[in-house]
Amino acid sequence: MRLIFLLCLLLPLQTLAQDFVPNYDEGKVPDYQLPDPLVLENGESVNNQGDWEKRRKEILGYFEREVYGKSPEWDGEIEAEVVLENDNAVNGKAHRKEVKLTLKREGKKAEVFVLIYHPKNNHPAPFILGLNFYGNHTLSEDPSIRITDAWIRNNETYGSANNRASEKGRGKRRANWAVEEAIERGYGIATLYYGELDPDFDDGFRNGVHALYEEERNESSWGAVAAWAWGLSRVMDYLETLEEVDAEKVAVLGHSRLGKAALWAGATDTRFGLVISNNSGSGGVALSRRRYGETVGRINRVYGYWFAERFSRYSENEDELPIDQHQLIALMAPRPVYIASAVDDQWADPKGEFFGGLHANPAYQLFGKTGMPSNQQPQVDQPVMGDIGYHLRSGGHGMLPYDMQQYFNFADKHWKGK
Ligand code: GCU
Repeated sequence: MRLIFLLCLLLPLQTLAQDFVPNYDEGKVPDYQLPDPLVLENGESVNNQGDWEKRRKEILGYFEREVYGKSPEWDGEIEAEVVLENDNAVNGKAHRKEVKLTLKREGKKAEVFVLIYHPKNNHPAPFILGLNFYGNHTLSEDPSIRITDAWIRNNETYGSANNRASEKGRGKRRANWAVEEAIERGYGIATLYYGELDPDFDDGFRNGVHALYEEERNESSWGAVAAWAWGLSRVMDYLETLEEVDAEKVAVLGHSRLGKAALWAGATDTRFGLVISNNSGSGGVALSRRRYGETVGRINRVYGYWFAERFSRYSENEDELPIDQHQLIALMAPRPVYIASAVDDQWADPKGEFFGGLHANPAYQLFGKTGMPSNQQPQVDQPVMGDIGYHLRSGGHGMLPYDMQQYFNFADKHWKGK
């Protein structure tokens, strides 16, 4: 009986997902006109950096209201406790620590655990900060790194026990994060499990960092992507206090849904000196108006809780969006941004991701910069690196050592003049 009831609940969801047929035919991409990053709401054009400040506020406001939702100003306290320290990590070349950050506000609290590697050969070091999908213990074989218990703390009842963080995952993502190479090249890595900030399911925004704020929600309240991005800013608050971190040189990085979060973090928090989008796709850097691969409608139907409620107004109605995702990249100007696609990741619309960067160029030009250095999408495995960098990796959806290598090259170019 219960099984039948469950099946009835699940079936409509399944049909909904199956009904969607993504377009993978370039010939069927409709004509579209992108909103101009350099025209103010009142129709005046933006000619200098002063005008841009105004325009930037307008664009940010649109993304807050219509896409990701508005995150609260942080008015709480962060307590940091080092729970693990190892002075001899990565073959003796790095210090490693795991820090429990307790975010406290009005008698409520949220706890996150940040894993930090600092290279001994560079002090203070530039850092790459990114959320991870499967827990900090997946970055190293070391048995002392704790396995997140966010599942229990957040009272998650969904999914099978097999999906939960366990010993099985230990070290499995080490290569993806290229920890050894980061350390060799003088970069620090800071990472935390994204589910500690906000568990990735629709619970009505009651758990994770949303729980710190007992607010009346409206159509433009923050969704999960905004919560992940907001959390990255809180980690940045802490990184800024560490003498081993060169706070001017903290890059925010994310893959896929976490790439969307990294982009939103970079847009809302200009302390991030460099922004990296790895296969961020729809709701990330891919242009919504292209309607290629995953569309606004599809992402809202399956992952509506990632966004503000108002975003669903644009499902199958993309031309009405007051912005498109190239303006998200424009919000980073003049800071360097790297956009990575993968050839077999058509769901994320690699071409749309390239255009998302290219059409941000006018904002970079206001600062005397070029932005994306090529008008054409580069060939497979041929990275280009201007103020905006881009590559189309061979292979599928994922963050691979090849991707990380390009990020270190790009950061070297901007931060070490290489
Ligand atoms: C799904 C989703 C994408 C997202 C991806 C991921 O495929 O449709 O928008 O980027 O999951 O996070 O891996």
